[in-house]
Amino acid sequence: MKEVKIESTLYLFENTDALPAEVASLMQKAVEARDKAYAPYSNFNVGAAILLDNGVIITGSNQENASYPSGLCAERTAIYYAGSQYPEAKIIRMAISATSKRKPTSTPIPPCGACRQAISEYEIKQDKPIEIYFMGETGKVAKSNSLANLLPFIFDKSFL
Ligand code: THU
Repeated sequence: MKEVKIESTLYLFENTDALPAEVASLMQKAVEARDKAYAPYSNFNVGAAILLDNGVIITGSNQENASYPSGLCAERTAIYYAGSQYPEAKIIRMAISATSKRKPTSTPIPPCGACRQAISEYEIKQDKPIEIYFMGETGKVAKSNSLANLLPFIFDKSFL
């Protein structure tokens, strides 16, 4: 038996003031999108903002449903819209912000596994890393230089 170790690197910014201006403004768009979430069941609002290489910014928020699994996360709402409206554009970065009506969210809140899988599809398709920035409502912002860092042992088209 051989042990296999996987390393992943994240960068932490103290708060949004520490972000480069362009990223802070993308995060602000995620916050505005977050406020448009439809999350009456979880009371957990998430917003995502995507910058494309054509300069367009796409935003999305989580959209819940009385039939719970029919709802969709903010990140996938945004990325599927980006993919369907601008199939030729490459995604430069995604900013994500999450807040809860039940408790303060002051630590970085990462995208769920299903969203990581969805984002990875686009990263592989465009053959260029997608930067991911994520945070709660306040506090530190985490940055991953690529989606691959957030999803070890990725399932991709090479297995099909
Ligand atoms: N949610 C997102 O929008 N993105 C994630 O990455 C994690 C979870 C949403 C789904 C659901 O509407 C609520 O947050 C609670 O799970």
